Amino acid sequence: MQTTCERTISEIAAAKPSSIRVFESLGIDYCCGGKRSLADACTRAGLSLDRTLALLEEADAAPTAERDWADASLPELVTHIVEAHHSYVRREIPRIDSLLAKVVNRHGSNHSEVLQIQPLFSALGQELTAHMMKEELVLFPYITRMAAGSAGFRENCCFGTVANPIANMVAEHEDAGALLVEMRRLSSNYQVPEDGCPTFRALYQAIEEFERDLHQHIHLENNILFPRAIAMERGY
Ligand SMILES: [Fe+2]
Ligand SMILES: [Fe+2]
Repeated sequence: MQTTCERTISEIAAAKPSSIRVFESLGIDYCCGGKRSLADACTRAGLSLDRTLALLEEADAAPTAERDWADASLPELVTHIVEAHHSYVRREIPRIDSLLAKVVNRHGSNHSEVLQIQPLFSALGQELTAHMMKEELVLFPYITRMAAGSAGFRENCCFGTVANPIANMVAEHEDAGALLVEMRRLSSNYQVPEDGCPTFRALYQAIEEFERDLHQHIHLENNILFPRAIAMERGY
């Protein structure tokens, strides 16, 4: 049997939702970059493996109100992703765009990083809007029909097997993840400059929260929904 150190970050995150907070706080990528073992991830991040294991155990023992989505039905999980995460993304994009416009206007001349972050966030917003539309119009209805055991769920299916659109979605998640990494780098981990106004602070808080939510969103899809949908389709 695999020890926790040998398991991948994605597997640990899918099996124990309490681990997600620990990974977030240590800056360990548990969604797009979660395919490496815990031991490997700690080595790369310069973290003590023993200390990380202790934090994971502590988090696991603490009472939590977080839902374990690993045992939810697939339609239930799809509904949660759309209602909690897709709605959040759609709500936040215009709010962050408008905060960015204000900060660029006021601080762009002294802080060129916001001039660079603005087009990156705009690209991220456009990519995510198109991405969520594909999930909601094509992939998720297919998964929901399949999980409901609807006869002929493959009818009008234009992609052969569910693994094909899933591979596209995973690649788009990686593109979104790369934009987030670049924005984090440009903002020096969302550190508000000394002369930053309250709007600057609100902007960095909003983007950081957006990043946290997107990590959870992608984790639910990459590590739970997609592998289960592929396995279910194989069983038909
Ligand atoms: Fe999604
Ligand atoms: Fe997605």
